[in-house]
Amino acid sequence: MPIFPPGSILAGIFLLSSILSGIWLTHIGRPLNVVVLTIHKLISLGAVIFTSLAIYWLSLARAISPAGWINILVTGILFLTLFASGAILSTGRVVKGALLVAHRSFPFLAAICFVLIFLHIAFG
Ligand code: HEM
Repeated sequence: MPIFPPGSILAGIFLLSSILSGIWLTHIGRPLNVVVLTIHKLISLGAVIFTSLAIYWLSLARAISPAGWINILVTGILFLTLFASGAILSTGRVVKGALLVAHRSFPFLAAICFVLIFLHIAFG
């Protein structure tokens, strides 16, 4: 039987919303809209909190395999990089290059890792 811990659906909704609010923020352009930026930051924080809680509950309900832990580690590194790059992008200066590329592509890698974590662990 698959186990989907409380919070995993909410974590998915927050992750999707952080991607959509980020696209909204970029779409408005610079100077950055402070209200949309704050919404984006809070939703992103919610995504991290609910993902961590869901993984914690899952780890209580079922043993996580080494591959599962590696996936969780990679997801954690992606989130950390998103927060670090997001903080620099929020300074208001126009930032180009690797930082922007990372902040634009890592959300999709994080979403793939997120789905893999819950598929792998819940059905594993
Ligand atoms: C779960 C964490 C996060 C995710 C998934 C995420 C996702 C995204 C996405 C998808 C975009 C739009 C990129 C595009 O249009 O191609 C974006 C833009 C942006 N994000 Fe995030 N973000 C996260 C965290 C943060 C944090 C914590 C901050 C600030 C401290 C931040 C600041 C920004 C800024 C300033 C932009 C606009 C970049 C620009 O176009 O110049 N993000 N984000």
